Amino acid sequence: MTNIIDLSIREKVYKKKKTQLSILNNFKLEVKAGEKIAIVGESGVGKSSLLNIIGLLDTDYSGEYTLFGSLTDNLHASELAQWRNQKVGFVLQESALIDSLTIEENIKLPLFYAGTEKNFFEPEYFENVINAIEIKSILKKKPLECSGGEKSRAVFARGIIMKPQIILSDEPTASLDVENRERIINLLFKMNEEFKTTIITVTHDLEVANRHDKVVHLERSK
Ligand SMILES: Nc1ncnc2c1ncn2[C@@H]1O[C@H](COP(=O)(O)OP(=O)(O)O)[C@@H](O)[C@H]1O
Ligand SMILES: [Mg+2]
Repeated sequence: MTNIIDLSIREKVYKKKKTQLSILNNFKLEVKAGEKIAIVGESGVGKSSLLNIIGLLDTDYSGEYTLFGSLTDNLHASELAQWRNQKVGFVLQESALIDSLTIEENIKLPLFYAGTEKNFFEPEYFENVINAIEIKSILKKKPLECSGGEKSRAVFARGIIMKPQIILSDEPTASLDVENRERIINLLFKMNEEFKTTIITVTHDLEVANRHDKVVHLERSK
């Protein structure tokens, strides 16, 4: 089977005022379609930075990245934007909901960005997602009327509404109780089983990590 992700980073540099920080030195990652990968490593090692690179949010690093068989250097900005919207689903820690929109509107936002020329909305799939993570009762509410767990689930639903080929989750269960944690993990794995979605999960939780096909340990550069 060919790789869906073939990433080789020489380094990622964050420039600060006087110093610079170099992370992800000589890091390589190969992922096959439909694989479930967990990424673990201590805080500050570069897990979130790595997800940003995998998800095409950050292209400022040295290295080579082939995604879906195309060298990402050769992609136009419009293609990158389209892939981010349609092929890669993000469930990121910091991705907040928009307070002025209802939960349903928030979840459907990526459909709106995708434009109207194609009909991306699949009512049946939407129903499935909503039922699986049990948020039907809060669809008409605004984020400020929801609990933390409900908001996390809504962020998750928004991340997968485009039925992406890859789901990138940054500690999706960090602030959740056991029940909500199981809902999210079960839905991730259900996406993997039903649609062969490739799953890449950053997690501190070793029990969650070990339920993936492979665990990648990120280590600090020497
Ligand atoms: N935008 C940024 N500018 C400067 N430094 C950053 C930036 N984002 C992250 N860093 C630094 O890069 C390192 C890796 O960060 P991050 O990828 O968030 O690690 P992790 O997710 O593993 O905790 C940390 O030392 C962090 O402070
Ligand atoms: Mg992080």
